[in-house]
Amino acid sequence: MKVACTGRSRAIGARIAEHLGAGVVETSLSRFPDGEIYLRTGLLDETTIVVGSLLSGDSLVELLLLIDACHRSEVLLVIPYLGYARQDREFKPGEPVSARAMARALSHGVSRVVTVNVHKESVLSHFTVPASQVNLAPEVGDFIKGLNLEDPLILAPDSGAAPFAAVVASQGGWECDHLEKTRLSGKEVRVEPRKGGPWTGDVVLVDDIISTGGTLASAARMLLSQGAKGVHAICVHGLFAGTALTLLGSAGIAQIAASDTIEGPNSRYSAAGPLAKALSR
Ligand code: R5P
Repeated sequence: MKVACTGRSRAIGARIAEHLGAGVVETSLSRFPDGEIYLRTGLLDETTIVVGSLLSGDSLVELLLLIDACHRSEVLLVIPYLGYARQDREFKPGEPVSARAMARALSHGVSRVVTVNVHKESVLSHFTVPASQVNLAPEVGDFIKGLNLEDPLILAPDSGAAPFAAVVASQGGWECDHLEKTRLSGKEVRVEPRKGGPWTGDVVLVDDIISTGGTLASAARMLLSQGAKGVHAICVHGLFAGTALTLLGSAGIAQIAASDTIEGPNSRYSAAGPLAKALSR
C-alpha cells in the first residue's frame, strides 16, 4: 500500500502514511505553457491511498489526474477537506447542487471515499461508491484540554454546529451552548445569544469551517462586549479566505486553531490519526 498526495495535501498525506506504516509515492507536478497541469507518479503498489483536499478548480483537476494516474492499482480516496459541500441543494432555480457534481466526478476510478467533517452528512450520498466521514470533535476536545482553560464554555455559532460542539464539550465535561446566526450576505452575519449568557469566563467557539471569519468575528465581538474573559476559535477546516485572520484578530480572538485538512500556519492538530483508523476498518 502506498500513499499519493496532491501538492497542497502533502503534510497530511505523509502523516497518514506514517500512521499506516505505508510509503509515500513521489509525485512530480508541473504545468504546460498554457497552464494545464501535468503530473507523474512513481512506482505504485496494489493499493494506493490518494490524498487531496478539494480547495479550488486546480485542486480538483490535480485530484482527478492523480486518481487516473493510479488506475493500475485499487484507489482509496481521502479528501481531507471536501470543498463545494456548502452548495448542497438547489437554493434557487437554475443552481447546481455543487456537492453532487463534485462527488460524482470524484467517484470515478476509486473504490471508496473517506472525508472529514463534511458540511452536511447528506452530501456523502452523492458519491457512487461507499463514502464515509470522520468527526474531529474528539481531537478538538483534546486540543482544548491542552489550553488549560478553567471551565471553558464550548459555544457553537449556530444550531448547525451545535451537535459538533456537544461532542467537543463531552470530552472535558464542559458546558456547551449555541448562538443564533442570521446570514446577511456572503461576508456578513448577525449572531445573537439564544438563552444563555452573558458569559464571563473563557469561551471557545467551535465550528466546522472558518472561511471569511465573519461568523466567529461577530460572535467574538458580541461575547467580549458582554464581558467574556477570553475568546478562542477552533475549527476543523481553516480556509481563512482573504483577510479572515486579520478580521478574527481584530475582533479580539485570543487564538485561532484549525486541523491540517487545509495546511496552514494555524494548523495545530491533525486529522491523520482518525483518517488512518477509518482506512484500516
Ligand atoms: C456555515 O454553516 C459553516 O458552518 C460556517 O459557519 C461558515 O462556513 C463560516 O463562514 P465564515 O467564516 O465566512 O463566516
